[in-house]
Amino acid sequence: MQRFIIEGGKKLFGKVSISGAKNSALPIIAASLLTAKKVVLDNIPDLVDVRTMIELIEYLGAKVEFARHTIKIYTPKLKRIDAPYDIVRKMRASYYVLGALLARVRRAKVSLPGGCAIGPRPVDLHIKGLRTLGVDIDIEDGFINAQTSKLVGREVNLQGTKGTSVGATINVMIAATGARGKTVISSAACEPEVVDVADFLNAMGFDVSGQGTHTIIIKGQASTRDVEYTIIPDRIEAGTFAVAAALTRGRIIIENCCPDHLISILDKIEEAGGKVTKGDRTVEVVGCGRKQAINIYVAPYPGFPTDMQAQFMALLSITAGTSTIRETIFENRFMQAVELMRMGADITIKGDTAVVNGVKKLSGAYLMASDLRASASLVLAGLVAQGQTVVRRIYHLDRGYEKFEIKLRGLGARIKRQRE
Ligand code: UD1
Repeated sequence: MQRFIIEGGKKLFGKVSISGAKNSALPIIAASLLTAKKVVLDNIPDLVDVRTMIELIEYLGAKVEFARHTIKIYTPKLKRIDAPYDIVRKMRASYYVLGALLARVRRAKVSLPGGCAIGPRPVDLHIKGLRTLGVDIDIEDGFINAQTSKLVGREVNLQGTKGTSVGATINVMIAATGARGKTVISSAACEPEVVDVADFLNAMGFDVSGQGTHTIIIKGQASTRDVEYTIIPDRIEAGTFAVAAALTRGRIIIENCCPDHLISILDKIEEAGGKVTKGDRTVEVVGCGRKQAINIYVAPYPGFPTDMQAQFMALLSITAGTSTIRETIFENRFMQAVELMRMGADITIKGDTAVVNGVKKLSGAYLMASDLRASASLVLAGLVAQGQTVVRRIYHLDRGYEKFEIKLRGLGARIKRQRE
């Protein structure tokens, strides 16, 4: 296992280039299985999760080349229709092959992903949506067994108890490309990654409209063509560097990002006292001396993203006054709080709300990362803590941040990776 050693107290200055979005890349790689034509995907981040998705589609029969952030995928024929537990266990997003396999060969067997560190993660909306399109689904021995003689376009409502679902919207949208007739998804998720998948499907030759709104329409069964497509930048990685600038009172120019996708995040940076200047594909964030307590309410896009609340918790830990973070999407997503408290943070969790009383300083400590975004929060806290911080189990972080410590070092941070 590997860990980060961080010497805190350096302000971060300079430019950082944002990688492609993990949460677009994963479903788009899976959706490449829809076609026997050639697919070329650019701006693919080199992440452990991306390697896992490649392993899965190769297992299913795809021929894949991945070099310098470009993937070439060619699947003239599928060899298998199952996603085994060993792969799904490593990465929940493996379930995206379900929609693609159903659309292409009408059968799929995908291991149930189960819960994870951030709480229970049901797949009922995926199953409901696919059943509405005419798929027979049995759950047996921990697998979703799905088959259909024909997919039929219908109205599918994907409203869940926690709001919209990114995963279910994308899976049903991908499956619906193989349906006869028109599918109308209502209560669809509006996240930029959903729009990216829809745009990719259109580039392949399918007919998807309404992406970015709560109603997406898919007119199924088109013939596909060779496609080259560029993935959008990762808004969560960009947001994490914005927090790094505010937290260390530095100045970071975030390049190759999409400022329009960052509005709710940058609003909170400004509210907390940071200075933000947006360009076409860049954002400059200056961490001013004066920071202010804020209240964060997590909500589906365009609301404040659940994937950014852990990083903001690190910032608010040393922001004078009392801030609150209300997490409405996942039940157990304050795992970073206990570790931040070991650094001296003053945080109380009351149900779905974290109350953060800003302290003057954090102290370096031995920390254990629990999930992807919590890991980023601990690294950020280590950057401002007095003394040395050790963050263990950084394999979580490697699932979603490309060359994180190298990018931070480029901004002046003192951080190194070490084998345990
Ligand atoms: C995706 C992102 C993840 C992000 C999350 C919310 C990927 C690979 N992951 O996860 O980084 O934190 O969106 O923005 O893109 N739900 C159900 N039933 C379902 C599906 C979801 O009740 O069938 C619930 C979930 O438990 C959660 C809420 O709906 O409470 C939103 O989940 P969803 O948007 O589906 O998250 P993911 O797609 O898994």
